[in-house]
Amino acid sequence: MKYQVVIPAAGQGKRMNAGKNKQFIELKKIPVIVHTLRVFEHDPDCNGIILVINKDDKPEFIKLIDTYRMKKKVQLIQGGAERQHSVYNGLKSAKGEEIVLIHDGARPFVKQERIQELVQAAYEHGAATVAVPVKDTIKRVYEYEVSETVERSSLWAIQTPQAFRLSLILHAHRKAAEESFLGTDDCSLVERLNEKVKIITGDYTNIKLTTPDDLLIAKAIMESERGETK
Ligand code: CTP
Ligand code: MG
Repeated sequence: MKYQVVIPAAGQGKRMNAGKNKQFIELKKIPVIVHTLRVFEHDPDCNGIILVINKDDKPEFIKLIDTYRMKKKVQLIQGGAERQHSVYNGLKSAKGEEIVLIHDGARPFVKQERIQELVQAAYEHGAATVAVPVKDTIKRVYEYEVSETVERSSLWAIQTPQAFRLSLILHAHRKAAEESFLGTDDCSLVERLNEKVKIITGDYTNIKLTTPDDLLIAKAIMESERGETK
């Protein structure tokens, strides 16, 4: 089932503390963002790639697309101050396919099988995300004191990709912008319109590279995939 993808990559990677946007950190000598782009480049169902970037990084992204000879056209769109603004900018230039995926540039280990399941779910339900059951016990804490232990059996850690009917997610972003609502993911913008979001069980290896220790985990994941670039 065909889809197009918006990839937000316009952050600064502050928590990674690499002195540059974490998208350019190399894993097995290939930049993170190239690993991510290749997943969609190799997926025959992906009919369009919209990469959202910040202005300062533009020359470097152009160079990478050229160096790694991306076979699919990668449309470059300017990002905004927050991830949500970047995604909205990307969505506004999405045309054609009915289903759009939103996937963080900093999650290079997403699997194609999962994308397929997700796109199918978005066709059927309008909105869907990959997620994994939470393994840790989660407590609510105020000023270093526990106020509540949250029942774990209903907790899921939400990842990307998230998939939507393009008209629905555009509407949800427009409403959020009008009402100055800032969510931490795109599904939350749809949830607040009382629309249902379907969960697809994902993979614990689909980590987001956020802090330096995630790079150690990334290396282990790559070793276990025997150097296959995902
Ligand atoms: N992102 C974006 N535009 C922003 C902020 C984030 O496109 N204004 C992108 C990032 O590039 C990343 C994804 O959203 O691919 C997830 O965000 P996050 O992990 O928070 O990345 P950064 O914002 O770059 O990192 P940090 O918060 O540590 O600065
Ligand atoms: Mg951020």
